[in-house]
Amino acid sequence: MTAEFSANSPRNDFRGDSSTRPEAIPADALVVFVHDDGAPGGAAAEIDKATGGLIARLSAAGEISGKRHECVPILAPPGIAAGQLLVVGLGPRSSLDQGTLFRAAATATRHLSSRPRERVVLVADGSWTTRQLEQAIAGSATGMVGQDLYRAERKRTPFSHTVWAHAPAEAVATGTTIAEGVNLARRLVNMAPDDLYPQTFSEAAAAVAGRTGMDIDIWDEHELARERCNAILAVGRGSSRPPRLVKLSYRGPGKATGAPELALVGKGVTFDSGGLSLKPPDGMLTMKCDMAGAAAMVAAAATIAALRLPVNIVAVCGLVENMTGPSAYKLGDVITARSGTTIEIHNTDAEGRVVLADVLDVVREMGPKRVLDAATLTGACMVALGHDVAGLFTNDQAWCDSIATAARTVGEPVWQLPMYPEYDEQIRSEVADIKNVGEGRWGGAITAAKFLERFVGGIPWTHVDIAGPAFAEKPRPWIDGGGTGALVRTIVELVRGGND
Ligand code: BES
Ligand code: MN
Ligand code: ZN
Repeated sequence: MTAEFSANSPRNDFRGDSSTRPEAIPADALVVFVHDDGAPGGAAAEIDKATGGLIARLSAAGEISGKRHECVPILAPPGIAAGQLLVVGLGPRSSLDQGTLFRAAATATRHLSSRPRERVVLVADGSWTTRQLEQAIAGSATGMVGQDLYRAERKRTPFSHTVWAHAPAEAVATGTTIAEGVNLARRLVNMAPDDLYPQTFSEAAAAVAGRTGMDIDIWDEHELARERCNAILAVGRGSSRPPRLVKLSYRGPGKATGAPELALVGKGVTFDSGGLSLKPPDGMLTMKCDMAGAAAMVAAAATIAALRLPVNIVAVCGLVENMTGPSAYKLGDVITARSGTTIEIHNTDAEGRVVLADVLDVVREMGPKRVLDAATLTGACMVALGHDVAGLFTNDQAWCDSIATAARTVGEPVWQLPMYPEYDEQIRSEVADIKNVGEGRWGGAITAAKFLERFVGGIPWTHVDIAGPAFAEKPRPWIDGGGTGALVRTIVELVRGGND
């Protein structure tokens, strides 16, 4: 088993059990999954038999529908050692996939973790593939973790012991490692912006690097100046907290030195007030989430390293706080980015692309085969795609397709938006090489992506705008509100390579 890489992870309290009959394990609750066809099959049939046909009878009576996210608790069930049987719906058998299992298992543990539990047993089904089982295990370890980091009275308490019946130890190890990555990204996003700012974020990344055996290089404001990262420095100037750039590198077993195969790039605006183009209060309230791209990249790299995947990667994050202090960057300012491109500032709230201009240039210089960036970049992307779907933008269709495939495999919805050259005209400036916003607000997610494209130097690149999915304003059946850990599972899947 690999090392833990974040504090308070439930990983060590998980185990697989492929020998004991699940109904015989003494526990607070036994979780079994059913489809919506009314006939308990596989593992559910086994449990049904142990109870003398209780699941089948309740299904026939319409008390159990098997619809997605349905949780039916049966207290003191006959024939079962656990105090409660929780029957969780998976929806149609024909559409069972990794994403459905992740959410179903998360829904189950979220439901049960509303009060402390000593031991919970979840029953895997023999028909699931290994990857499906791993996602179910990952889901179960995220659902029991809440967003109330600062509450005395927690809404969610992770179980003391979680047992996955009919699950091999390797699947439990992999699934809980993936969950640890998701939970790390969530926790970083959920931290208050006065606790998580560029310096403390970089320290958190260093701690994670230490635990997973990655190398880390942190550039402070002096190093950023030596490296001509004027764009990062400009955005950071309005804050009393100076910016940082964090570089994590991981070399997989048997991998020679040399250029990374994959560079992950994250937007790490630890708080986005909008700067002098100040946001209204409603829009500002959730802007601690504006480092979710950086959190996803640190967490994905940590997960890849913890799983010892055979790949060479770097993860580079630009960390700044976008504030309105006396030295704040201004409208009309012209910044010479690290690449030499001059940027005229028309709106200080379009700060993410300005930060990423320098980060992408640092990465370009490392000569990676491919670049993938994640950023809570535009409200316009949420106007286009809503809360749940991330936007994809690329200069290389095949690379974008691999990311879309990985995302769909693990159940993270994405949709590609076009990058026609006509959009380039919108970021032309009269004064400088480019300006940092388009003409008006139409197509704002695309003009932002077009801006980024200027800094990738022709390397195959895909940009993922996670403004919608990174942060849930309301809870969902499978997750509390707050940070979601969006894109972590997709990147791990991308690097592991397809399988079902
Ligand atoms: N961080 C925001 C984008 C955002 C909005 C993320 C809502 C998550 C939820 C970004 O820095 C921003 O403010 N973008 C502006 C760009 C505009 C000024 C061109 C926006 O989307 O309004
Ligand atoms: Mn902004
Ligand atoms: Zn922002």
